[in-house]
This record gives sequence, C-alpha cells and structure tokens, in this order.
Amino acid sequence: MALAKSLMIFFLVMACFGVCFGAVYKVGDSEGWRYKGFNYTDWRLDKDFTVGDSLLFAYKGKDSVVQVDRKHYQTCNSTDPINETRSGNDTITLDKPGHFFYITGYKEHCERGQKLDIRVSPPTSPSPSPSPSPSPSQSPHKSSAPSIQSSAAIPALILMAMAVVVLSSTA
Ligand SMILES: *[C@@H]1O[C@H](CO)[C@@H](O)[C@H](O)[C@H]1NC(C)=O
Ligand SMILES: *[C@@H]1O[C@H](CO)[C@@H](O)[C@H](O)[C@H]1NC(C)=O
Ligand SMILES: *[C@@H]1O[C@H](CO)[C@@H](O)[C@H](O)[C@H]1NC(C)=O
Ligand SMILES: *[C@@H]1O[C@H](CO)[C@@H](O)[C@H](O)[C@H]1NC(C)=O
Repeated sequence: MALAKSLMIFFLVMACFGVCFGAVYKVGDSEGWRYKGFNYTDWRLDKDFTVGDSLLFAYKGKDSVVQVDRKHYQTCNSTDPINETRSGNDTITLDKPGHFFYITGYKEHCERGQKLDIRVSPPTSPSPSPSPSPSPSQSPHKSSAPSIQSSAAIPALILMAMAVVVLSSTA
C-alpha cells in the first residue's frame, strides 16, 4: 500500500517534469539509434517537439549523431557537421525553435533511414515576463536565462522526487 502510494506520487512528480521542464524523447524508443529497418521519420510523426524538450540518442558501438543542415541531411553527408556527439548516450537539448537535422556518421546507414529531422516549436507559455529594462545597455545581451534556469532546476527536482518517495515509503 505504502509502496503503491509512493510510486504514484513519484510518477505524478515525474509527469510534471514532462510538462513543466520539457520532455525527453528517446529517439527510436526501445530500438534506440540504429539503422536496421527503423524509420525515424515515422517515429517522429506523432510527436510535438517544443523548446526545452530533449532528444536522447542511445546506441552501442562506434556510431555517432551528427547535426547537419538540410542539404547535407538529404545527401547523408556528415563531412561538414554543425555539431557531433558520439558518447552512445547523447542528450541533445532543444534550446531553440526551428527545423533540425540529425544523421549518423555512417553514410550507408543514413541512406537506409538512420536520419531524423524535427521541427521544434517555440515554448507555449513565454516564461520570462518582459522585465522593465532599467538600462538600455542591457538590451544587446539576449540571454537564454529560461533554459539555464530549467536545466538547473531538474537535478534539484529529481532529488525532491526521490525525497518524496523515501519519506512517503517510511511513513
Ligand atoms: C559533402 O559536404 C562537403 C562540405 O559541404 C562537400 O565539400 C563535399 O563535396 C560533399 N560530399 C559529397 C559526396 O557530396
Ligand atoms: C554541441 O554538442 C555539445 C554536446 O551536446 C553541446 O554541449 C554544445 O553546446 C553543442 N554546440 C553547438 C554549437 O550546438
Ligand atoms: C543516458 O543518459 C540519461 C540522461 O542523461 C540517463 O538518465 C541515463 O541513465 C543514461 N543511460 C546510460 C546507459 O548511461
Ligand atoms: C519512412 O516512411 C516514410 C512514410 O511514412 C517514407 O516516406 C520514407 O521513405 C521512409 N523512409 C525509409 C528510409 O524507408
């Protein structure tokens, strides 16, 4: 009973992360990032990516995630990347709206469909209220304060969620 209750609280808190702090989409779900017969274009169709969400590319071996532009995406050309990660557990935070393109560094695997393009929408509720700008000298600095705040808040909230579970299971 206590366990069920604490699990319920835990999942409620976790669900809030999805809504409040951005969802994490594991690319390919349980398939991860691989080339054999998985269609990433189909995978992304029912998803609605928003600024603050993140993509998790999980894979084994010497694969990579290469962010490219549209032209290089279409030709599976990874020689001029915008960015590249190869940890095998790559989290990419979608910190701005737009159309983004990711391919594997293996050209032939990319040609078989190991490529993903997504459209990221602007945040639904603009969290930073336009502050009365005290000095004009601050205006050139367009800071990305909201994304920094929320990413810093996530570890704190994970700790909080764990504390809730521990406390409610001992009660
Ligand atoms: C791949 O892209 C690079 C840089 O944009 C370009 O120089 C090269 O010709 C391209 N390779 C192919 C095979 O299209
Ligand atoms: C490239 O990726 C790394 C790791 O995800 C990230 O820290 C860095 O900000 C990215 N750089 C650009 C220009 O997107
Ligand atoms: C991969 O990264 C995610 C988020 O950073 C983390 O939750 C997960 O435990 C990691 N998985 C592995 C196998 O390292
Ligand atoms: C993935 O599926 C879409 C249709 O949903 C299709 O247009 C596309 O060619 C497929 N990609 C591959 C690599 O099979």
